[in-house]
Amino acid sequence: MKLRTLIFGGSGQLGTELRLQAEDSWEITAPSRTALDMADAAGAAALVRELRPNLVVNASALHLVDVCEADFARALAINAVAVSAIAKASAEIGARFVTVSTDYVFDGKSRRPYRETDLAEPIQCYGISKLAGERAALAAHPEGAFVIRTCGLYGSAPSRQKGNFVVNRLADARRLDRIEVGSDLTCTPTSAADLATATIQLLTSGAPPGLYHLTNAGSCDWARFTAEIFQLAGVSTRVVPVDRRGAYAPVRPAYTVLDCGTAAAHGVSLRPWQDALAEYVGALVSRTR
Ligand SMILES: NC(=O)c1ccc[n+]([C@@H]2O[C@H](COP(=O)([O-])OP(=O)(O)OC[C@H]3O[C@@H](n4cnc5c(N)ncnc54)[C@H](OP(=O)(O)O)[C@@H]3O)[C@@H](O)[C@H]2O)c1
Repeated sequence: MKLRTLIFGGSGQLGTELRLQAEDSWEITAPSRTALDMADAAGAAALVRELRPNLVVNASALHLVDVCEADFARALAINAVAVSAIAKASAEIGARFVTVSTDYVFDGKSRRPYRETDLAEPIQCYGISKLAGERAALAAHPEGAFVIRTCGLYGSAPSRQKGNFVVNRLADARRLDRIEVGSDLTCTPTSAADLATATIQLLTSGAPPGLYHLTNAGSCDWARFTAEIFQLAGVSTRVVPVDRRGAYAPVRPAYTVLDCGTAAAHGVSLRPWQDALAEYVGALVSRTR
């Protein structure tokens, strides 16, 4: 029997990959933003209570960092208040609950990959709102909430608001012969398809509810990532690494590599970021031929 699943944010990068990969095993309902605005936390919770699914997945978010800074109330409404409401409703009906969070809950001062047990001290409104959502989910539904932190997603359904880093840089390359990219922010770009696979695996692995880090393996800065994208796509645009010395508005954490050892201990791990990127760029290039 299929697992009755309600996905919020089903049209996004991760939501799309989850719907594609789980369609044989999950009976999915995924309301569009027009049908349900996550700023309406009560409406989102009412839908959980009405449908009574076995699993609720929140892949929706306001993750435009500058918009979160300019409209903190909206960031909190979508990234925290709604998460709290649907986690509580999931607990009431006995459904497992998954919500996705971010490497931006950290301040970036670490020099080794962050573990789930490391102190989260976000330094901008986006990270603060996501951390509030994490804590609300775990507090409301300790018996059934999975909080998954990830990083730098790219997938087959780039965000309508901001595309994704890979698609945007390839668009830049069509009009520029050189491009300056920051070399002072290090993280792990992650395939939304790989994250979807790992999320499904985690849920079937017997791992207990709680906080998990899930990204592709390895790390790089954005200039190195761009150079790899261009090489894989056969693009000749030159990448000029620029050390911006943290001069980003809003402020961004310098180092947000996540230690994914907890999920790995349950048999769930993702391949190196270069391998995932090669598959993604290969598919993009063959689609445009
Ligand atoms: N993207 C990254 O680089 C990144 C990095 C770290 C963590 N994350 C986290 O990973 C998760 C998934 O990210 P993603 O890249 O898949 O995001 P995405 O592609 O931007 O998708 C976000 C989804 O949320 C929906 N949504 C946004 N605001 C909404 C609202 N007010 N009401 C209802 N739906 C709304 C979007 O609907 P529309 O299709 O209508 O826009 C879309 O379905 C998020 O929790 C994000 O914080 C992302």
